[in-house]
Amino acid sequence: MHAAVLRWYDGAARDLPWRRPDASPWGVLVSEVMLQQTPVARVEPAWRAWMERWPTPADLASAPAADVLRAWDRLGYPRRALRLQDCARTIVAEHDGAVPVTEDELLTLPGVGAYTAAAVAAFAHGARAVVLDTNVRRVVGRALEGRALPPPTLGRAEQERAAGYVPADAATSVRWNVGVMELGALVCTARSPRCADCPLRSRCAWLAAGRPADEHAARRR
Ligand code: ADE
Repeated sequence: MHAAVLRWYDGAARDLPWRRPDASPWGVLVSEVMLQQTPVARVEPAWRAWMERWPTPADLASAPAADVLRAWDRLGYPRRALRLQDCARTIVAEHDGAVPVTEDELLTLPGVGAYTAAAVAAFAHGARAVVLDTNVRRVVGRALEGRALPPPTLGRAEQERAAGYVPADAATSVRWNVGVMELGALVCTARSPRCADCPLRSRCAWLAAGRPADEHAARRR
């Protein structure tokens, strides 16, 4: 299962600037905050402009709030921009201007929740973390548990099962996390999954069961 996803990712992944080896931990953190509620296509140009203007937490920390809000502009949910600036100020004041490394430290930053802390630990610092966004939850729920869509809220049991699938080796775990995320974004989509193109099609529990409907559908409407 792991090898199939990793191989697929190597061939199919989008070349996104925050995934390149030269992206800074700060760049990764900015990308994760922007991607929380905004699609990749809109984030990409905004991220490039943002990183050019404020390449470090210290640069953003000292910017006028009005400039920060204007630069955020069409990404939506502008409170995120101010929270990101708060976050930059905390990084400067309490971490010497460097994005913290551990999930526990990341979680103390304003606006950084469990998902963002795990994603930054993994994608900025190469740590083994359990990165569980909606894409990952959907892929894991379908392929391994036969569900159409994961339950709306994350239970402890689901979290523990998902953690069990993350490879032990840190470098492999990072590729697994981003690979499953990309699979959910490009192939195993919520509404029209392209199962014929999926590297997990021969072992997907949901496909094998005839793609049953979402058990939570009534509540989702
Ligand atoms: N790569 C790393 N994190 C990502 C995210 N949240 N969305 C899309 N691509 C990503």
